[in-house]
Amino acid sequence: MAKKEEIKKIPTHVGIIMDGNGRWAKKRLLPRAMGHSAGANNVEPTCKAAWDLGVKYLTVYAFSTENWTRSDDEVSTLMKLLKQYLEGCKEKCLKNNMRVRIIGDISRLSKDLQETIISLEEYSKQFDGLQFQVALNYGGRDEIIRATRKIAEECKEGKLSPADISEESFKNYLDTADIPDPDLLIRTSGELRISNFMLWQLAYTEMYFTDVYWPDFDKKELEKALEYYANRDRRYGGRKS
Ligand code: FPP
Repeated sequence: MAKKEEIKKIPTHVGIIMDGNGRWAKKRLLPRAMGHSAGANNVEPTCKAAWDLGVKYLTVYAFSTENWTRSDDEVSTLMKLLKQYLEGCKEKCLKNNMRVRIIGDISRLSKDLQETIISLEEYSKQFDGLQFQVALNYGGRDEIIRATRKIAEECKEGKLSPADISEESFKNYLDTADIPDPDLLIRTSGELRISNFMLWQLAYTEMYFTDVYWPDFDKKELEKALEYYANRDRRYGGRKS
């Protein structure tokens, strides 16, 4: 039997706000685009590290509903990187037994990116290793509004009664319907905000903030975050988990 001190509480679902690409580049006198590119290259190693450490679900914030207000150049760099990543993703899924889902409103993305996403999600359904979510054109408020609209439509059509709307049923209209709420949220680069990320789902999530910029966030840093989580005494408004 394992010694007591070796038994660690591992979060089932980890969310990451991948922040600091721009500052990582600035520190090295490089263009911002290179920071984003280094950030994109850090996604696959993080998926592997998370799975190796026992994490079952990982969700990363890749592009928010607010990110459209960045310069055209920067938006197009980010879209290019996301497209590249998603196009090469089937191979990664097969190699790593990984399922990929996109959360967010994909209807504003280019038609070919939407097709890539639909095909990738369908293909990767078969894999039961890491369940990886990429938040793309995602905003927590937007997600709640889209869920509310679906509910209102069903009420209007007589399929649902307002009295049946509960926390449990509301959850099923969110982009994360089949996904457990995150146990741990990590934000890199020293900012202490959740920036419209999974507003509903983060209700009881432990938060871990680190000064490390996203491109430098490696397995060792993930281990530190998991160590922090393992030492937390989780409480749900008085009810222990
Ligand atoms: C924040 O850095 C990061 C983003 C706005 C985007 C995150 C995107 C990636 C890591 C690349 C693409 C993702 C995938 C899944 C392939 P920032 O620009 O706000 O950094 P700063 O605050 O230092 O300026």
